[in-house]
Amino acid sequence: MMLSKRFQIWSWFLSFLFVLSTSSARPKPYAMRISCGARQNVHTAPTNTLWHKDFAYTGGIPFNVTRPSYITPPLETLRYFPLSEGPNNCYNINRVPKGHYSVRIFFGLVAQPTIDNEPLFDISIEGSQINSLKAGWTKHDEQAFAEAMLFLTDGTASICFHSTGHGDPAIISLEILQVDENSYYFGPQWGQGTILRTVTRVTCGTGKSKFGVDYGGDPWGGDRFWHAISSFRPGSDEERSTEETIKHTSLSPNYYPNGLYRTAIIGTEKQPDLEHIMDVDPNKNYSIWLHFAEIDSVREVGQRVFDILINGDTVFQGIDIIKLSGDGYSSLVLNTTVAVSGRTLTITLQPKEGSIAIISAIEVFEIITVESGTSRDEVRALQSLKKALALPLRFGWNGDPCVPQQHPWSGIDCQYNSTSNTWVIDGLGLGNQGLRGFLPKDISKLQHLQNINLSENSIRGPIPASLGSVTPLQILDLSFNFFNGSIPESLGQLTSLRRLNLNGNDLTGRVPAALGGQLLHGASFNFTDNSGLCGIPGLPSCVPHLSSGAKVGIGFGVCIAFLLLAVCSVCWWKRRQNILRAQQIAGKFIYLLTLTSMLQIFKGLFQSTQIHTKMFTQLGMAEKWHLTLN
Ligand SMILES: *[C@@H]1O[C@H](CO)[C@@H](O)[C@H](O)[C@H]1NC(C)=O
Ligand SMILES: *[C@@H]1O[C@H](CO)[C@@H](O)[C@H](O)[C@H]1NC(C)=O
Ligand SMILES: *[C@@H]1O[C@H](CO)[C@@H](O)[C@H](O)[C@H]1NC(C)=O
Ligand SMILES: *[C@@H]1O[C@H](CO)[C@@H](O)[C@H](O)[C@H]1NC(C)=O
Ligand SMILES: *[C@@H]1O[C@H](CO)[C@@H](O)[C@H](O)[C@H]1NC(C)=O
Ligand SMILES: *[C@@H]1O[C@H](CO)[C@@H](O)[C@H](O)[C@H]1NC(C)=O
Ligand SMILES: *[C@@H]1O[C@H](CO)[C@@H](O)[C@H](O)[C@H]1NC(C)=O
Repeated sequence: MMLSKRFQIWSWFLSFLFVLSTSSARPKPYAMRISCGARQNVHTAPTNTLWHKDFAYTGGIPFNVTRPSYITPPLETLRYFPLSEGPNNCYNINRVPKGHYSVRIFFGLVAQPTIDNEPLFDISIEGSQINSLKAGWTKHDEQAFAEAMLFLTDGTASICFHSTGHGDPAIISLEILQVDENSYYFGPQWGQGTILRTVTRVTCGTGKSKFGVDYGGDPWGGDRFWHAISSFRPGSDEERSTEETIKHTSLSPNYYPNGLYRTAIIGTEKQPDLEHIMDVDPNKNYSIWLHFAEIDSVREVGQRVFDILINGDTVFQGIDIIKLSGDGYSSLVLNTTVAVSGRTLTITLQPKEGSIAIISAIEVFEIITVESGTSRDEVRALQSLKKALALPLRFGWNGDPCVPQQHPWSGIDCQYNSTSNTWVIDGLGLGNQGLRGFLPKDISKLQHLQNINLSENSIRGPIPASLGSVTPLQILDLSFNFFNGSIPESLGQLTSLRRLNLNGNDLTGRVPAALGGQLLHGASFNFTDNSGLCGIPGLPSCVPHLSSGAKVGIGFGVCIAFLLLAVCSVCWWKRRQNILRAQQIAGKFIYLLTLTSMLQIFKGLFQSTQIHTKMFTQLGMAEKWHLTLN
């Protein structure tokens, strides 16, 4: 009894401790790994890493992979994007918590010899271009991926691949790994406005190239790849390594793995300085991080002192690792920012008299200024336009319309507004593109359009009246489509209009007077080849327009007229019947008259004067009737 009660108290106490420890521990960082083209989730050795299946993120074609480098994760599939699907293709990953991320993309080769083996393409994250593959990348292991650190703040990660006309982009994997909020803080420029693109990350001295997980690194550092180099200048430097644990590693905010500092490259008595030369893109700013630990025989302050020069300029003077890190086997990290105008970046460690230089690791990042995207309302309007016009796949309207600036959507013109720090659309040039569908009224949400050309397509339905609110519009060419209905009156509000081509459609009705009026202002209009348009010179005149009251009036009038006509017809018919009857009678009299004449000839004066008188009276009456009728 006593025992069981004591046990209970103990177990409560233990579970309390457990809850306390887990709640005070940092939550695990967000990590999303996608195995592109995979139909099932995949786990890979040696760390049993989970890769999510590739489901409904994007278009493209799944295929079997040829991995160009041993660094690429051991995945079997990729996804590639043929140009027929358009030049811009994106993975859109939702529900990404707001935070600081390391995003990494591994490239592959489609396992089919008929397809160009080394595609060259550009990569952007959230509209900022972070990488451009260079010819020959498949021959350099560490160029098999692109990596950048940035803040994701809108709950999504949009990663886009931009074709450059050299083969189809082919992607093996995407990783979105949360890192410390303050990692790689390099100075006031650092923050949401900048991206750090990994140029190189090398571990110096003996040892294999490794990922952070292989080093047993803290997940909050992201899963960094450290490319091993054993010498800067073979023959004039040496390797060093130790089994000792290095102090002050795996610390916030960068969580460098301990193993990184257990190896180093060191100068020699004959050649005490060290020099690392690398190729870089010119005219960029770079953030450079240098790692040191005293793992050699030096134990006293002042025994190893060196300056650090970048492209010949001294950036750190009199570096003494023991002094700065506090001890031997203790890590020291230095960072600096440099602007590089040429194509090489040279890091020189120049020891003072009697010293020899040593270094454990080097990281170089390009500092990229984040592109400001297109105004959200305009993006939505373009998406609704894409749908309504049934834009063919080859247009590739994916990602942001205006950025990266190197890869805007085809058929649109962009303009940067430095006040609002956004891009807006000022032109739509989609003439002769085989478009179907209709023009949505949402087009008016593109409030900065100066130029719309949708000529020579097969667009149907009405011209949206909302176009009249796009006041900057100067050129509106909707010619040679199947627009029907009437021209909206609202187009008369477009006072900047210089050219309006509506010819070659199925438009009907009167050309709005306001447009007719603008003819005077020197704008050029074309309304021809619309069977039903009327009302301006060159077009048929319009049948007068009648109000419903007028219509009732006219209807009433027509009825009266019809009644009158009917009455007249009846009268006329009756009269005619009378005439006919009278003519018949007259005919009889004429016959009688002839007979009488004959009687006169043959019988002479033998007949009585009474008969004569009666006969002639009736004949006169018939003649009278005849005169009135004619
Ligand atoms: C990919 O490889 C698997 C076996 O490894 C094979 O069954 C499948 O047909 C391949 N797919 C393609 C598209 O070649
Ligand atoms: C990088 O260097 C700057 C000064 O140049 C310093 O303010 C900053 O704390 C350093 N970053 C880290 C993470 O040590
Ligand atoms: C480099 O940084 C400076 C400010 O430190 C800035 O004026 C310049 O525009 C940057 N250069 C590039 C290419 O980003
Ligand atoms: C830029 O944006 C601001 C604020 O939205 C606006 O007031 C201004 O007119 C715009 N400038 C141009 C040139 O469109
Ligand atoms: C509109 O596009 C068509 C076809 O591309 C072109 O022929 C026409 O000249 C363009 N219209 C204007 C006003 O530029
Ligand atoms: C315009 O054409 C569509 C079919 O393309 C038709 O449904 C609609 O009734 C037409 N509108 C007018 C006013 O003729
Ligand atoms: C108007 O368009 C028709 C074709 O629909 C063309 O023949 C004519 O030359 C154009 N008129 C003007 C003034 O451009």
